[in-house]
Amino acid sequence: MATFKEAPPNAGAAEKLMNWVDNRFPATKLYKEHLSEYYAPKNFNFWYFFGSLALLVLVIQIVTGIFLVMHYKPDAALAFASVEYIMRDVPWGWLVRYMHSTGASAFFVVVYLHMFRGLIYGSYRKPRELVWIFGCAIFLCLMAEAFMGYLLPWGQMSYWGAQVIVNLFAAIPFVGPDLALLIRGDYVVGDATLNRFFSFHVIAVPLVLLGLVAAHIIALHEVGSNNPDGVEIKAKKDAQGRPLDGIPFHPYYTVHDILGVSVFLIAFTAIVFFAPEFGGYFLEYNNFIPADPLKTPAHIAPVWYFTPFYSMLRAITSEMMYVLIVCVIGAAAFGVLKAKASNVFKTAFLVGAVVAVAAMLAIDAKFWGVVVMGGAVIILFFLPWLDHSPAKSIRYRPGWHKILYGVFVVVFAVLGYLGVQPPSPIGERVSQVGTLFYFGFFLLMPWWSRLGEFKPVPDRVTFAAH
Ligand code: HEM
Repeated sequence: MATFKEAPPNAGAAEKLMNWVDNRFPATKLYKEHLSEYYAPKNFNFWYFFGSLALLVLVIQIVTGIFLVMHYKPDAALAFASVEYIMRDVPWGWLVRYMHSTGASAFFVVVYLHMFRGLIYGSYRKPRELVWIFGCAIFLCLMAEAFMGYLLPWGQMSYWGAQVIVNLFAAIPFVGPDLALLIRGDYVVGDATLNRFFSFHVIAVPLVLLGLVAAHIIALHEVGSNNPDGVEIKAKKDAQGRPLDGIPFHPYYTVHDILGVSVFLIAFTAIVFFAPEFGGYFLEYNNFIPADPLKTPAHIAPVWYFTPFYSMLRAITSEMMYVLIVCVIGAAAFGVLKAKASNVFKTAFLVGAVVAVAAMLAIDAKFWGVVVMGGAVIILFFLPWLDHSPAKSIRYRPGWHKILYGVFVVVFAVLGYLGVQPPSPIGERVSQVGTLFYFGFFLLMPWWSRLGEFKPVPDRVTFAAH
């Protein structure tokens, strides 16, 4: 049995109560480890607001979600009308619904910026690989959560968006059609689909998401935060063992984060109150029409946060497959001729490439589109092992690395833009080039991240008090 600690004889009632709790639950220990004695680098900047903002949006989504479920009906005959009922008749229902729909887009804005921060400061590198991997799993869950939530209002876009995406699974050889049937629970998207998506959206995925967020933060606090200089603050400690460049998270960063929260809430409420549809990007106009299985809308596009990946899916035409086959053959030739590896490894590599090319020729391009779309997210998991740069932070990398990261952002945005547009020959070409750039950026990273002239990384963080 644990040894009980006595409260000091002159302790007040509150201290005695805390002592009683601490003897049974590590409340003070947790508070110290994660807040008052969690030393964070003193040079956090703008980019470090988005972790706490992601937590805030998570809370907004859960709380508004709970209230929505009180009035929403997960039934194909009632769902659309129940959302209209929430909007018109439930007191403050419109606010709760708009907060939830705006929150979905806000989540992706915040998370994309949060991921970008990780990318530019090398926050995914040793010892933070698991922080990053939990983050990537969160991103996958978030995509699943948003996709299934979008079906619930049972509008035209909900219905046809789900139909298009679920049908993609049918392109998987052998198991595809059965898998699509399993996901839908019917031969077309219908009541069974709505019920299972509802169940996953309100309970299964949020539970996993909460678990992953907890793991993400526990892993981060185990190794400590990175910072804009990419310098490990734990390498330089004072006599008490506190990092010289660290400051307690509470009160310094709790107060600092209030600034981020305030600015965020100004933007968030401005959208909720004045532009909840956000020009058809946050709530698509077609979704104000009830789902009609007999009327396919002229143009079906996913919500903006999926569109970069959707563009990559559309980029994989049968013509593009030849380009991909040339890439695989090129990679195989390079591996066999240049790589310093055993002959057994080289032979295995070559056999793998031949099998891949045969599969690429035999299986329909639609399937490879799905593989590319999924691969675009999966590749993020491997980032810690792709980056071989001698400097973590972009600050100490060659100037052209910054340009490359800039081009990456532009390409991602262009892919996003093209994904909302109806298909066009020129859009198809641009998205094909964009897809090649996206994958080239990551797959060639082990090579290019080492090139160029790096600036010396300082021992201590750089910080000028404002
Ligand atoms: C629900 C979504 C998420 C929540 C609530 C969340 C929360 C947080 C928080 C509170 C921090 C510490 C504060 C900060 O450094 O900004 C953090 C750090 C971090 N997160 Fe997330 N995160 C989420 C999603 C993601 C995703 C999708 C990724 C990447 C794929 C990611 C990667 C990271 C990394 C690498 C760090 C450490 C950054 C550093 O120390 O420089 N997170 N996260």
